Amino acid sequence: MSPFRPSDLPDILAYAGNEEVARTVLWPAHKTLEDSQAYLDWIERNLFFEPGKLFFVWALRKVEDGKAIGSIDFKQPYPHVGQIDYAIAQSEWRKGYVTEAALTVKKWAFENLPELQRFQSFCIASNIASRRVMEKCGMEFEGLRKKAIALKGIPVDLACYALVK
Ligand SMILES: CC(C)(COP(=O)(O)OP(=O)(O)OC[C@H]1O[C@@H](n2cnc3c(N)ncnc32)[C@H](O)[C@@H]1OP(=O)(O)O)[C@@H](O)C(=O)NCCC(=O)NCCS
Repeated sequence: MSPFRPSDLPDILAYAGNEEVARTVLWPAHKTLEDSQAYLDWIERNLFFEPGKLFFVWALRKVEDGKAIGSIDFKQPYPHVGQIDYAIAQSEWRKGYVTEAALTVKKWAFENLPELQRFQSFCIASNIASRRVMEKCGMEFEGLRKKAIALKGIPVDLACYALVK
């Protein structure tokens, strides 16, 4: 895990351009390198280092060659709340990588942010893989918010998970 670099653009396009990866997230699949560049620009504009309002994005990288294969974000919507979001290349699914990354961010957050009392994540209710990541990360299912979001224009239920200290 480390920040994204401009040289990651083709790797970002490779995984974020996959319609299957984008199917369960709010962002549309990247079509061109410009879309991936716009993502890096958005990160650059939104990174926030003020305590209590942090926003970080880490690239998930292959140990062997440093290739970017996904991302995990951490944000603090309130000083006592930490939230993660993540995605990884389809070729890397079911290898335990996102669970490992989520556990790493959770450990880092509770060790370094004394104000943190809640660690949360959300996904569409049908996203079994993401729900498992949250469970394996120690978060409890808090319930469904019915038709709480529109996914590519379609109203869908949101599954809410959190670990509360
Ligand atoms: C959701 C996602 C991040 C999971 O990443 P991952 O690295 O494959 O997850 P892990 O390998 O850590 O697996 C975690 C658990 O989910 C299970 N799982 C993974 N993919 C699965 C699938 N397609 N169907 C059912 N279970 C699945 C794993 O088996 C594991 O559970 P287990 O240990 O009980 O067997 C990945 O599928 C993804 O990027 N999807 C597209 C983007 C997305 O949905 N992001 C989340 C938005 S909230």
